[in-house]
Amino acid sequence: MTPDTPNPASNVSLPIVDEASAPPVAPADATRDDALYDSHGRVIRDLRLSVTDRCNYRCVYCMDPDFRYMPKQELLQLDEYIAVARVAAAAGIEKLRITGGEPTLYPQLDEFIHAIGRFGFRDIAMTTNGSRIEAMPLRAWHRAGLNRLTFSLDSLRDDRVQAITRTRSTAATVIHAINKARDAEFEHTKVNAVVVRDINDDEVADFADFAREHDVDMRLIEFMPLDSGHSWSRRKMVTADEMIAAISARHPLEPIDAGDPHSTSLRFRFADGGPGQIGIIASVSRPFCGACSRLRITADGKVRPCLFSHDEFDLRAVLRSGADDAAVRAFLVDAVWTKQSGHGISDSSFVQPRRTMSSIGG
Ligand code: 5AD
Ligand code: SF4
Repeated sequence: MTPDTPNPASNVSLPIVDEASAPPVAPADATRDDALYDSHGRVIRDLRLSVTDRCNYRCVYCMDPDFRYMPKQELLQLDEYIAVARVAAAAGIEKLRITGGEPTLYPQLDEFIHAIGRFGFRDIAMTTNGSRIEAMPLRAWHRAGLNRLTFSLDSLRDDRVQAITRTRSTAATVIHAINKARDAEFEHTKVNAVVVRDINDDEVADFADFAREHDVDMRLIEFMPLDSGHSWSRRKMVTADEMIAAISARHPLEPIDAGDPHSTSLRFRFADGGPGQIGIIASVSRPFCGACSRLRITADGKVRPCLFSHDEFDLRAVLRSGADDAAVRAFLVDAVWTKQSGHGISDSSFVQPRRTMSSIGG
């Protein structure tokens, strides 16, 4: 099926499956140099490490109000997160993104950031809802090596922000966070909005105004079937084409690096040279799986080769067995080798993973 063909499973509740195990052993050519390769020839350079599944928001497209967290003892300890990052850096991971839940709720985030800044990553970023940034030591984190921040803001209207996040938060919360990041010398700040039909789809062009006004890279994300309430349907998803049309009608766009095979977003600048940028994450309508260089590790130490993986691999068991860095690396080599070629959301056989975005980490 092509991505444009309606998904027969799109309006029914999708079955969910996830199993944790050890990966099969990868063949010898999986380790041709220090980097991590999958069996489809992709090299993995980008790790998303979740440091908590806790969140102070309950975004409608992510977590139901009664969502249950994992027990604390299931989550990795600080030294285990640090070991994962150290091995990843030595295995050719260049970009580390710290995710959650909401990562600022991780009590040892400060120690973690200071530790990983020494491992030689080219880029360390963090995705946060911005609500707690006011109280965070951003300057110290920037000096320690955290160099980019991504905030989530799904509406510019306060009543909608409150309805979507199910909190008392407002758009100003994220505007303050953006300004604080700028004061602390962070560059290339991104703002994520998940666009959902009948919730915020009438604000797509307003988000472009926001990018210009605050000189940020506004990332508009297609709604993906990763919500805990399993409410995703193709009808609720606003496609990249619709978003581009809505923005272009107000602000003509020019593509940036349209030929970049490793790009996971469609990137645009404003044709009039205005500040800010637009990125469209068209994971569903234009999957970029062929260019994917990502690996995800959850807060409880499960390796997920793909956002939509059903097999996850229990790195925590390896870490807790007293394994050295070489054994952790060997486990990652095997896990990465199993990475599936694509997510198959448009296939009739698509099955939604059990984990929600909040417990995978985006
Ligand atoms: N579809 C698309 N994006 C999602 N996010 C959370 N749930 C979903 C979903 N179902 C986004 C959040 C955050 C990032 C980590 O993932 O908005 O920006
Ligand atoms: Fe929390 Fe992010 Fe999920 Fe919203 S999308 S509930 S901020 S983890």
